[in-house]
Amino acid sequence: MRRFWIWAAAAAAFAFAPVAASAQQPIIIKFSHVVADATPKGQAAIKFKEVAEQLLPGKVKVEVYPNSQLFGDAKEVEALLLGDVHFIAPSLSKFEKFTKVLQVYDLPFLFADMQAVDKFQDGKVGQDMLKSMEKKGLLGLNYWHNGLKQLSANKPLLAPEDAKGVKFRVQSSDVLVSQFQAVNANPQKLAFSEVYQALQTGAVDGQENTWSNAYSQKYQEVQSDFTESNHGLLDYMVVTNAKWWNGLSPEIREGLTKAMKEATAVNNKVADDLNKEAKGKIAASKAKIHQLTPEQRKKWQQAMEPVWKKFEKEIGPDVIDAAQKVGNSS
Ligand code: SIN
Repeated sequence: MRRFWIWAAAAAAFAFAPVAASAQQPIIIKFSHVVADATPKGQAAIKFKEVAEQLLPGKVKVEVYPNSQLFGDAKEVEALLLGDVHFIAPSLSKFEKFTKVLQVYDLPFLFADMQAVDKFQDGKVGQDMLKSMEKKGLLGLNYWHNGLKQLSANKPLLAPEDAKGVKFRVQSSDVLVSQFQAVNANPQKLAFSEVYQALQTGAVDGQENTWSNAYSQKYQEVQSDFTESNHGLLDYMVVTNAKWWNGLSPEIREGLTKAMKEATAVNNKVADDLNKEAKGKIAASKAKIHQLTPEQRKKWQQAMEPVWKKFEKEIGPDVIDAAQKVGNSS
């Protein structure tokens, strides 16, 4: 890892030098992400391009690369640090190598709804987290929402016991691994771009994601049963390379900041609608959607509760406390 940072620093010094030198040419800005255009993040990235090019005509050209076309989960942060891409918006679950504090977002049953997430992110603890990776060269600009996650498999998942032995795909997060271990399931970390095939071939049996991600990846074709569990959060941080960002002229930085603000508003406005629409489409497919009774939901919550204690020290009790205070308060 240490060798990577040294190499990344040297490569980045080279990659960022031309930004100031070629002032006559539009700056090419690459925004890479792993989801489809028809998702909250996909729509927001397109909005960012439109507004940035409108506010800074001839000065910037924004290229958006969806669907892991340019870089997938495994490489996108390294690509950002090397200057091969300028903006990415990974799920908060994917920053574990860079900071532990963001693991709070993966704690099961922490946030009741997206209003609670907003409250936490708008507060001091949430805002400080945007800077939690600055020493590693990553600057957080904004949070973007997707929504709450649902479970799916090829059988109904109604009680925690139903998850026993099920191989669930998880993002690269130890908290999510522990969450499924708590219900005696077998979690497996896997890149987003590989999930459909893994479900299709039976390499994994189940998964957790938002309605819009599930539908846009066609999981309803390879999963017979979805459970509306709302048990966890899928949210993003838009990050840029701190050195590249600080090397931009104030005019460009200001324009991009404004564009990012508009894109964030679009993201958070469409997220809920896109998830509702995707849920409707999954309901109309051959897959079934199951609702949990309050008692059933409580049992999942109780089964997964030990995960909080396990990660309390790494995340920081004060951070968990702050999230918990707003988590159910909307
Ligand atoms: C994403 O929404 O960016 C992908 C999340 C995942 O890997 O499940």
